[in-house]
Amino acid sequence: MRVVLGVSGGIAAYKAASLLRRFTESGHDVTVVPTEAALRFVGAPTWAALSGKPVASDVWTAVDRVPHVRIGQDADLVVVAPATADLLAKAATGQADDLLTATLLTARCPVVFAPAMHTEMWLHPATQANVATLKARGAHVVEPASGRLTGADTGPGRLPEPEELYAACLAAVDASAPLGSDGAAVRGGDLHGIRVVVSAGGTREALDPVRFLGNRSSGKQGVALAERAAARGAQVTLVACNLAVPVRDDLGIRVVPAESALDLQEAVTTVAGDADVVVMCAAVADFRPKHYVASKIKKTHAADGSDQAAPTIELVRNPDILAGLVARRGSAAHPVIVGFAAETGDESGSVLDLARAKLARKGCDLLVANEVGATKTFGQDTNTVHLLFRDGRPGVTVGPASKAAVADAVWDGIRDLIPASH
Ligand code: C5P
Repeated sequence: MRVVLGVSGGIAAYKAASLLRRFTESGHDVTVVPTEAALRFVGAPTWAALSGKPVASDVWTAVDRVPHVRIGQDADLVVVAPATADLLAKAATGQADDLLTATLLTARCPVVFAPAMHTEMWLHPATQANVATLKARGAHVVEPASGRLTGADTGPGRLPEPEELYAACLAAVDASAPLGSDGAAVRGGDLHGIRVVVSAGGTREALDPVRFLGNRSSGKQGVALAERAAARGAQVTLVACNLAVPVRDDLGIRVVPAESALDLQEAVTTVAGDADVVVMCAAVADFRPKHYVASKIKKTHAADGSDQAAPTIELVRNPDILAGLVARRGSAAHPVIVGFAAETGDESGSVLDLARAKLARKGCDLLVANEVGATKTFGQDTNTVHLLFRDGRPGVTVGPASKAAVADAVWDGIRDLIPASH
């Protein structure tokens, strides 16, 4: 997308260079518009070299191309990072005395401000009123982080880290995607009439009424898949396993809750009957406790206070729901079945090697592989995935991108697999 990165005159301007890199490395086209004051902190050569484009602060450069109007009109996203108190005041009052403020008046795309300043300036009622005005007009304002400021002082006012700003920008773009009242307006509703089932979240395998074996899946990616499908016109049933995130209630998504792998199997099997596409995004426990203890398991102590007997939990295999769907489909082309592979990679192979083997083993039409770990993917707002197709068409790598953007890429891949009768 075409991004305008506005930089105003604060010490945090140096962090905007990393944000710029983040955008360009993901293939976005970035025009940097620094203010005069910003150039005192980071010079024009840095912005020009990193963006691969000339930079200007005034409206008198390349006038034949009418930059004070064109740059804003052509943008898909404008982000101002850092946004100083002065810049916020100018934007709130509609001043246009340089290229950045003029761009802000002509932009009709999502606009994100990332304020950074000293705590007193941030908390001043004038700044807060300007922020409220900008938000009321639809701008996105990223809350400044708390922490060390320019000197030894600390408090709210720090520019958040570039990765966080990048995710906030993608979220702002996603949130602006046009939706009809039935959620069918996006991309002409290219999934209109398609019935899809998406499972999301992570299963919980109960040990007793209060304890369970679970996993770190938040359900964000699965919910994004359900929401984007609905936004593109599909009729969506979401089988929701213990989600940590809400599901938009304005898209007509039917939500069927399921707690354990066996619940999930029953729910998916029931709703998959008349589906065109089944996406198994849920993280399903491979094993469950063999015995469920109907009352809370007690810790019993010997008279001397030592542990008498730590219980041993015996596990049994859960059914593989995805493999079951593939087996039931047999040689029919319907429904399209999509699996996910959360891999860490190990001594037996890389994430991609393991995912290719899994695609062959499971027999689904598309396997979406991502790299996971305690700090990767689970609960995060961005994701990087590899789409591997069973029919041998070339794989696709998507990201790092918001989970909504990943969801759109997955649906683009699935759409091509749906038989032509649709
Ligand atoms: O074998 P693995 O658990 O890595 O496979 C992941 C894929 O298989 C996911 O699509 C997941 O939803 C599905 N799965 C399943 N039933 C299981 C385990 C995983 O459907 N018991």
